[in-house]
Amino acid sequence: MTQEQWTAVDRYITEVLVPGDAALEAALEASAAAGLPPINVTPNQGKLLMLLALIQGARSILEIGTLGGYSTIWLARALPAGGRLITLEADPKHAEVARANIARAGLADVVELRQGRALDTLPQLAAERRGPFDLIFIDADKPSNPDYVVWALALSRRGSLIVIDNVVREGAVADAGSDDPSVRGVRRMNELLAAEPRVSATAIQTVGSKGYDGFALALVTADR
Ligand code: SAH
Ligand code: DHB
Ligand code: MG
Repeated sequence: MTQEQWTAVDRYITEVLVPGDAALEAALEASAAAGLPPINVTPNQGKLLMLLALIQGARSILEIGTLGGYSTIWLARALPAGGRLITLEADPKHAEVARANIARAGLADVVELRQGRALDTLPQLAAERRGPFDLIFIDADKPSNPDYVVWALALSRRGSLIVIDNVVREGAVADAGSDDPSVRGVRRMNELLAAEPRVSATAIQTVGSKGYDGFALALVTADR
């Protein structure tokens, strides 16, 4: 199996099942033009996020790690009238590009982007009594994943769904001796999820145009 095959299959799946969308394509073009790294979710994964939000019946969504707002737009598209999405981004340039992309997608009134390090903005959300969120997508700096899961749980209710991106890291996650801070973050996050009585969690390996990685799902099964 090769990267070329994974990319070809992602292209095929996207062509057949994920119709082109002007706002999403414009968001990627503007992100590339501004020099943002091309680490957004793929179109087929973006659609998975939208479907998860629809299955969940999500009316409130929290995203940690906006980049250019590509996954944000996918998630926000699942919201019913009156639904809200809050997205957290540390990098001011990413935030600026994302704001423009979100506005171009017609979602400026639905999405609230908070610029700042998530470990600063998450406590603010809690202090403002925002939440509980129906769906939380964690996709920022991976070493902080354990902290983000703790905050996600604090901002959850029974039935909330937590989705965590990039949890396989080309298989490195299975290496207990890894000194990669991202791998260590994912492993500590998994241990935390395993020990947390309020969640039931699993993870799935994926291949695709972004290589070999995976995502985790954690369903919150009890109120705080
Ligand atoms: N969810 C996006 C991709 C996010 S990439 C998509 O799929 O389209 C990860 C993002 O997290 C980057 O934009 C990075 O600047 C941001 N980030 C990194 N550290 C952060 C932190 N401490 N707080 C908030 N955002 C952070
Ligand atoms: C990276 C971050 C992501 O969210 C992703 O999906 C892929 C790569 C990164 O930081 O390299
Ligand atoms: Mg990611």
